Amino acid sequence: MTFDYRVADISLHEAGRHQIRLAEHEMPGLMALREEFGESQPLEGARIAGSLHMTVQTAVLIETLVALGAEVRWASCNIFSTQDEAAAAVVVGTGTAEDPQGVPVFAWKGETLEEYWWTAEQILTWPGADTNPELGPNMILDDGGDATLLVHKGVEFEAAGAVPQATDEDPEEYRIILDVLRAGQSQDPQKWTRIAKGIRGVSEETTTGVHRLYQLAEQGKLLFPAINVNDSVTKSKFDNKYGIRHSLPDGINRATDVLIGGKVAVVCGYGDVGKGAAEALRGQGARVVVTEIDPICALQAAMDGYQVVRLESVVHEGDLFITTTGGKDIIRAEHMAAMKDKAIVGNVGHFDNEIDMAGLAKIPGIRKVEIKPQVHEWVFPATEAHDGQDSRGEHSIIVLSEGRLLNLGNATGHPSFVMSNSFANQTIAQIELWTKRDQPEAERSYEKEVYVLPKILDEKVARLHLDALGVELTELTKDQADYLDVDVAGPYKADHYRY
Ligand code: NAI
Repeated sequence: MTFDYRVADISLHEAGRHQIRLAEHEMPGLMALREEFGESQPLEGARIAGSLHMTVQTAVLIETLVALGAEVRWASCNIFSTQDEAAAAVVVGTGTAEDPQGVPVFAWKGETLEEYWWTAEQILTWPGADTNPELGPNMILDDGGDATLLVHKGVEFEAAGAVPQATDEDPEEYRIILDVLRAGQSQDPQKWTRIAKGIRGVSEETTTGVHRLYQLAEQGKLLFPAINVNDSVTKSKFDNKYGIRHSLPDGINRATDVLIGGKVAVVCGYGDVGKGAAEALRGQGARVVVTEIDPICALQAAMDGYQVVRLESVVHEGDLFITTTGGKDIIRAEHMAAMKDKAIVGNVGHFDNEIDMAGLAKIPGIRKVEIKPQVHEWVFPATEAHDGQDSRGEHSIIVLSEGRLLNLGNATGHPSFVMSNSFANQTIAQIELWTKRDQPEAERSYEKEVYVLPKILDEKVARLHLDALGVELTELTKDQADYLDVDVAGPYKADHYRY
């Protein structure tokens, strides 16, 4: 068997395989799903286009989808997040570097934006599908919504007749997307419409991608059913919070090795990710200060013991600034110019526009010095207005991963155990969408809307992880269950319960 793929270095596959083997041990949820569904092959016939950080943990997800019968093509959803050894191991599979038998992966650490969007196109472009639509992708597994966006934009432009030319005002990334769409359309005028017609559903991993899906659904533009994996309790209340609690300090340490204890750490946003970030930094002994726009989250932060201020009030004082909002322009160029000498600035929200990197680069006289890949010192021109100067008479800040997800760019993302929860939800969502795709209209479970998984499945994901931690779960008696008006086997909470 030969197939197309592109990774940094296929010879890294053995190192990747060792790490995958150890990760499997830490991913009981995914391994239990292999056990439960390996024989029945619920994903047989599914051709999944996957766009999600190509890490060791994702390798275990990909191989679970394959074990359940799916065919898969994969790209990363971030230019810096691929672990090259994991990508190589997934490609090689049970084969060799010369004769790979695994999965076509298009991902490497340090892609350019042009390469990134090329990889997104590759996962949606299946061999033979240009002449036989039956061979094209029929499911998307997304993180941040870029694969879904490419299909929706393509369909929108094909309906309008052609992909427009970019204007001078369009951001660089949008021009690149237009170029990719135009190139696809030039080979096949209905390429994106044809792909969209084949897709039976998408399961979306993260807050930012889910937000995009709800927007499409509200506008009546969503082209296929979607499952919001992020809002399974066993995803956002675990991965976003406990995952970040682990991988944020990991990223900061690998990037800078600066002692966090005693420093002033500013966390922008106190949602699920912000809560994990603040706890981690406090755990290291930092004095954590939070910024929020939502009074409920601001009050939560205050009750948790954090000072809550506006960024402007703390910008001169902070040693470390972390954005976690999923919003844009949270830290602007003027904030960075005003920071202390050698302040560290990083983002763990999904997209890089939380920190105004473009504005920073435009400051007259600014210099960018690469300390090492994904760690840059931005040196400001000397001004009398800024008193914090180094031995060169200048002051600078350290920006991690060029403003992109630093826990994946500077470290290796969340650890396996927490990702086992997220990816068990992903796998169940793919099974749900795929196995219910051809239901008669009256019984249809999934329309072109956004759904969350039923609570009983959320509880199932949690259950799959209890034994590994030695948890003894108390069982309700029938009498107790009747008293609470729940079933002995669950679900135990109403949908509106907040955990
Ligand atoms: P969330 O909605 O629970 O929290 C975001 C918080 O930021 C909200 O409380 C909101 O009020 C606040 N916020 C919005 N604009 C703000 C502003 N201008 N200043 C201060 N606070 C502001 O979302 P969640 O789940 O915490 O996710 C946040 C981001 O992190 C998303 O982009 C998500 O996709 C991403 N994410 C990243 C992960 C990673 O591994 N790095 C893991 C999971 C999610």
